Amino acid sequence: MAYWNWDPSYNIGIEEIDNQHKKIVQYINELHEAFVLNDKNIVKNTLFNITEYVISHFSFEEKLMEEAEYPQFMHHKSIHENFVSSIGKYKIAFNEGRDITGQLMAELQIWLTQHILIEDRAYKESVQKMLNSKNTVKKSDKHTWFKKIFN
Ligand SMILES: [Fe+2]
Repeated sequence: MAYWNWDPSYNIGIEEIDNQHKKIVQYINELHEAFVLNDKNIVKNTLFNITEYVISHFSFEEKLMEEAEYPQFMHHKSIHENFVSSIGKYKIAFNEGRDITGQLMAELQIWLTQHILIEDRAYKESVQKMLNSKNTVKKSDKHTWFKKIFN
Protein backbone atom coordinates (compact mmCIF):
# COMPACT_ATOMS: atom_id res chain seq x y z
CA MET A 1 0.00 0.00 0.00
CA ALA A 2 1.24 3.45 -0.87
CA TYR A 3 2.53 5.62 1.94
CA TRP A 4 0.66 8.62 0.60
CA ASN A 5 -2.25 8.63 -1.82
CA TRP A 6 -3.04 11.59 -4.01
CA ASP A 7 -6.27 13.22 -2.97
CA PRO A 8 -8.35 15.09 -5.59
CA SER A 9 -8.60 18.02 -3.15
CA TYR A 10 -4.90 18.67 -3.90
CA ASN A 11 -5.71 19.55 -7.52
CA ILE A 12 -5.25 23.23 -8.17
CA GLY A 13 -6.92 22.94 -11.57
CA ILE A 14 -3.92 23.52 -13.83
CA GLU A 15 -3.35 20.11 -15.35
CA GLU A 16 0.40 20.27 -15.89
CA ILE A 17 1.01 21.53 -12.35
CA ASP A 18 -1.27 18.87 -10.87
CA ASN A 19 0.59 16.17 -12.80
CA GLN A 20 3.91 17.44 -11.48
CA HIS A 21 2.61 17.48 -7.91
CA LYS A 22 1.39 13.89 -8.39
CA LYS A 23 4.85 12.92 -9.54
CA ILE A 24 6.35 14.36 -6.34
CA VAL A 25 3.87 12.29 -4.30
CA GLN A 26 5.03 9.27 -6.31
CA TYR A 27 8.66 10.03 -5.41
CA ILE A 28 7.73 10.30 -1.73
CA ASN A 29 6.15 6.85 -2.03
CA GLU A 30 9.35 5.53 -3.60
CA LEU A 31 11.28 7.00 -0.70
CA HIS A 32 8.97 5.17 1.66
CA GLU A 33 9.52 1.85 -0.14
CA ALA A 34 13.27 2.31 0.12
CA PHE A 35 12.84 3.17 3.79
CA VAL A 36 10.81 -0.01 4.43
CA LEU A 37 13.33 -2.14 2.53
CA ASN A 38 16.08 -0.36 4.45
CA ASP A 39 18.00 -0.01 1.21
CA LYS A 40 20.44 2.89 1.43
CA ASN A 41 21.23 2.84 -2.28
CA ILE A 42 17.61 3.24 -3.29
CA VAL A 43 17.20 5.97 -0.64
CA LYS A 44 20.20 7.76 -2.09
CA ASN A 45 18.93 7.51 -5.68
CA THR A 46 15.43 8.57 -4.71
CA LEU A 47 16.79 11.49 -2.71
CA PHE A 48 18.72 12.60 -5.75
CA ASN A 49 15.72 12.16 -8.09
CA ILE A 50 13.27 13.90 -5.83
CA THR A 51 15.59 16.89 -5.35
CA GLU A 52 16.17 17.25 -9.09
CA TYR A 53 12.49 16.93 -9.82
CA VAL A 54 11.36 19.36 -7.13
CA ILE A 55 13.87 21.97 -8.37
CA SER A 56 12.68 21.66 -11.97
CA HIS A 57 9.06 21.75 -10.85
CA PHE A 58 9.69 24.94 -8.86
CA SER A 59 11.39 26.60 -11.79
CA PHE A 60 8.45 25.60 -14.00
CA GLU A 61 6.01 27.21 -11.56
CA GLU A 62 8.22 30.29 -11.27
CA LYS A 63 8.29 30.78 -15.06
CA LEU A 64 4.51 30.61 -15.15
CA MET A 65 4.13 33.07 -12.26
CA GLU A 66 6.63 35.45 -13.80
CA GLU A 67 4.94 35.28 -17.18
CA ALA A 68 1.60 35.90 -15.47
CA GLU A 69 3.08 38.88 -13.56
CA TYR A 70 1.78 37.33 -10.38
CA PRO A 71 2.16 39.97 -7.62
CA GLN A 72 3.39 37.48 -4.98
CA PHE A 73 5.98 35.97 -7.32
CA MET A 74 9.07 36.96 -5.30
CA HIS A 75 7.51 35.78 -2.07
CA HIS A 76 6.57 32.44 -3.60
CA LYS A 77 10.05 32.08 -5.09
CA SER A 78 11.65 32.64 -1.69
CA ILE A 79 9.43 29.92 -0.18
CA HIS A 80 10.73 27.56 -2.88
CA GLU A 81 14.33 28.55 -2.17
CA ASN A 82 13.96 27.93 1.56
CA PHE A 83 12.47 24.54 0.88
CA VAL A 84 15.26 23.53 -1.51
CA SER A 85 17.85 24.52 1.09
CA SER A 86 15.99 22.46 3.69
CA ILE A 87 16.10 19.37 1.41
CA GLY A 88 19.80 20.11 0.90
CA LYS A 89 20.34 19.84 4.68
CA TYR A 90 18.72 16.40 4.66
CA LYS A 91 21.01 15.32 1.84
CA ILE A 92 24.06 16.41 3.81
CA ALA A 93 22.79 14.58 6.91
CA PHE A 94 22.19 11.45 4.82
CA ASN A 95 25.70 11.63 3.37
CA GLU A 96 27.03 11.90 6.90
CA GLY A 97 25.38 8.55 7.62
CA ARG A 98 22.40 9.80 9.59
CA ASP A 99 19.06 8.06 9.11
CA ILE A 100 16.87 10.93 8.02
CA THR A 101 14.43 9.16 5.66
CA GLY A 102 11.44 8.96 8.01
CA GLN A 103 11.79 12.57 9.07
CA LEU A 104 12.26 13.75 5.50
CA MET A 105 9.17 11.90 4.23
CA ALA A 106 7.05 13.44 6.96
CA GLU A 107 8.41 16.91 6.28
CA LEU A 108 7.93 16.57 2.52
CA GLN A 109 4.37 15.44 3.00
CA ILE A 110 3.39 18.19 5.41
CA TRP A 111 5.21 20.88 3.49
CA LEU A 112 3.89 19.87 0.08
CA THR A 113 0.29 19.57 1.25
CA GLN A 114 0.37 23.00 2.86
CA HIS A 115 2.18 24.56 -0.09
CA ILE A 116 -0.23 23.14 -2.67
CA LEU A 117 -3.32 24.02 -0.67
CA ILE A 118 -2.25 27.55 0.21
CA GLU A 119 0.55 29.11 -1.85
CA ASP A 120 0.05 27.25 -5.12
CA ARG A 121 -3.68 27.76 -5.01
CA ALA A 122 -3.05 31.50 -4.54
CA TYR A 123 -1.30 31.88 -7.92
CA LYS A 124 -3.88 29.80 -9.75
CA GLU A 125 -6.07 32.68 -10.88
CA SER A 126 -3.24 34.79 -12.31
CA VAL A 127 -1.57 31.85 -14.03
CA GLN A 128 -4.85 30.49 -15.37
CA LYS A 129 -5.69 33.89 -16.85
CA MET A 130 -2.31 34.06 -18.55
CA LEU A 131 -2.67 30.50 -19.87
CA ASN A 132 -6.15 31.24 -21.20
CA SER A 133 -4.81 34.22 -23.10
CA LYS A 134 -2.25 31.89 -24.69
CA ASN A 135 -5.08 29.54 -25.49
CA THR A 136 -6.02 31.52 -28.53
CA VAL A 137 -3.29 29.34 -30.06
CA LYS A 138 -4.14 25.78 -30.92
CA LYS A 139 -4.09 23.10 -28.19
CA SER A 140 -1.16 21.29 -29.77
CA ASP A 141 0.81 24.53 -29.74
CA LYS A 142 -0.03 24.96 -26.07
CA HIS A 143 1.63 21.63 -25.38
CA THR A 144 4.74 22.76 -27.24
CA TRP A 145 4.70 25.99 -25.31
CA PHE A 146 4.53 24.10 -22.00
CA LYS A 147 7.43 21.98 -23.11
CA LYS A 148 9.39 25.03 -24.11
CA ILE A 149 8.86 26.75 -20.79
CA PHE A 150 9.72 23.61 -18.84
CA ASN A 151 13.01 22.88 -20.57
FE1 LIG B 1 5.00 26.43 -5.43
